[in-house]
Amino acid sequence: MCGIVGVTGKDNAVQILLKGLKRLEYRGYDSAGIYVNDQDGHEYLVKEKGRIADLEAEIGSDVHGSTGIGHTRWATHGVPSKANAHPHVSADGRYYLVHNGMIGNFAELKKQYLSDVTFKSDTDTEVIVQLIAKFAQTGMATKAAFKKVLNLIDDSSSYSFLLIDNQEPNTLYVAKNKSPLLIGVGDGFNVVCSDALAMLDQTHDFIELIDGETVIVKPDSILIEDTDGKRIERKPFHVSTDASAADKGAYPYYMLKEIDEQPGVMRTLIKHYISEDGSIKIDDNILQSLHQSDRIYIVAAGTSYHAGLVGKELLEKVAKIPTEVHVASEFGYNPPLLAAKPFFIFLTQSGETADSRQVLAQVNELGYQSLTITNVENSTLSREATYTLLLYAGPEIAVASTKAYTGQIALEAILAKALGELRQVATAADFDVAKELTKVANGEQELVDEKKDIKKIAAALLPTTRNAFYIGRSIDYDIVQEAALKLKEVSYIQTEGFASGELKHGTISLIEKGTPVLAVITDKHTAKHTRSNAQEVMARGANVVFIASRSLAKDGDQIVLPDVHPLLTPLVAIVPCQLMAYYASLQRGYDVDKPRNLAKSVTVE
Ligand code: AGP
Repeated sequence: MCGIVGVTGKDNAVQILLKGLKRLEYRGYDSAGIYVNDQDGHEYLVKEKGRIADLEAEIGSDVHGSTGIGHTRWATHGVPSKANAHPHVSADGRYYLVHNGMIGNFAELKKQYLSDVTFKSDTDTEVIVQLIAKFAQTGMATKAAFKKVLNLIDDSSSYSFLLIDNQEPNTLYVAKNKSPLLIGVGDGFNVVCSDALAMLDQTHDFIELIDGETVIVKPDSILIEDTDGKRIERKPFHVSTDASAADKGAYPYYMLKEIDEQPGVMRTLIKHYISEDGSIKIDDNILQSLHQSDRIYIVAAGTSYHAGLVGKELLEKVAKIPTEVHVASEFGYNPPLLAAKPFFIFLTQSGETADSRQVLAQVNELGYQSLTITNVENSTLSREATYTLLLYAGPEIAVASTKAYTGQIALEAILAKALGELRQVATAADFDVAKELTKVANGEQELVDEKKDIKKIAAALLPTTRNAFYIGRSIDYDIVQEAALKLKEVSYIQTEGFASGELKHGTISLIEKGTPVLAVITDKHTAKHTRSNAQEVMARGANVVFIASRSLAKDGDQIVLPDVHPLLTPLVAIVPCQLMAYYASLQRGYDVDKPRNLAKSVTVE
């Protein structure tokens, strides 16, 4: 949610901020703004509704500076508008603030301290900058006023703040609590950003911040203090990702690029986690901790939750260990009765999802062990878990997650194999995961090479519909929940991923002439049942498309999938479903990578 950037000590601050915001646009894209000053009494505040391109169009050629802050927004408090865009400025014109997160007690603070202040926006953030100015007007130094306000913010809040006092034009005041924030270390300059991706053109060395810390950043210094004001020295970590990895190259959209990258993601995972001799390269401590547990709890949100559903199949059927899968936002406030020796697996592409992080905080408090499977090194859920396994899938920029979903499932398969071997269960011995994932990679390649066929089907099936259904049973039910989410996310077609056997118990009443229904059939034990359920909806006028494994396909099936291991069929079956969503969105003229109302990394609860 929201992307923030800052720079001090670079004459082309405007260009650096704009490039950084473009890289962070996946975090929110309903309005944006920058503030810069030139250390010589000239300062500029430019804000606009819409994309960074809309903001850029508003920035005059005279706008320049060497210190500045910027923001791209995902609205929480106050509609997307120029007035509600960040940076927010104090009534006395002295302070400028950008914020990522939500202030739980902003209304109370406004009522208690700011009844005499005229507000320009409906945001929680403006309350903070007005309050800082209020305290500074009592003679307090900016640092003290900033810290006083931070202490007044309640625990339910989340924030990363970048503040500029135009009386100290080359200084960035920084604070972090729950929302991600990094300091990028330069030579004669320094930068601040929500995600390293934003500043990889400037530096590859970043300092992570811990909740409650504040930082004063100048061109030649970075002063970190903890909640008690004690100075903290921390070494930067190096980010090896190349800035170009975040570019979409010749692709029209990141989503299509990332769908096409899935075969490569399989091969990279095999390379990283499986030796030539087939032995699995996973830290033995992780395997021992999993082995000593009596129940695994997979906790995640959205697409990652759907990858967890398949992870349960793999861990239970290959490693024979009881596994539950939970929606993070539910688990956080309504946890199940836990087993005696639980082990927690957090699946998260971004590593920053607030709902999952909230659960991890509880797990840490209870002293249980945890593993985060993520695509972002040094992300919060990686740092705060006992163990981490990385996806090595490369930056995933499109809001609709694709290669992270298949990467998570493939890594769960590798983990299940290793754990099963440690537990000496026969099913693991028979599961040659390297060979099976290679078969999957070849199958995915075949499907992405035939994407034009999916384009035609989408054009025929989904041109104008307001609703659609994906149906399937057992592991196909896991697949269709993700397939439905993809179609909903990017084409705004109301889509349900439904257990096909459950249709006749009510939901079939929604079926009428022309209702699109996509039946997924990769499980031989339930194939004929799903086909009869498809017949039942066809009898009521539904427009049915069959997506079936080659060994289960029948004449007339529109999409035939390469045969792969029965526990890995989601890795091939999801590809045509991802493409279906992509083309349905494209055919409706939507921005496939930045669907309305969404953001890539959901850092507020
Ligand atoms: C998926 O396409 C969505 N972007 C969303 O559901 C996402 O999967 C969810 O927010 C979880 O994100 P995470 O994997 O980064 O934790």
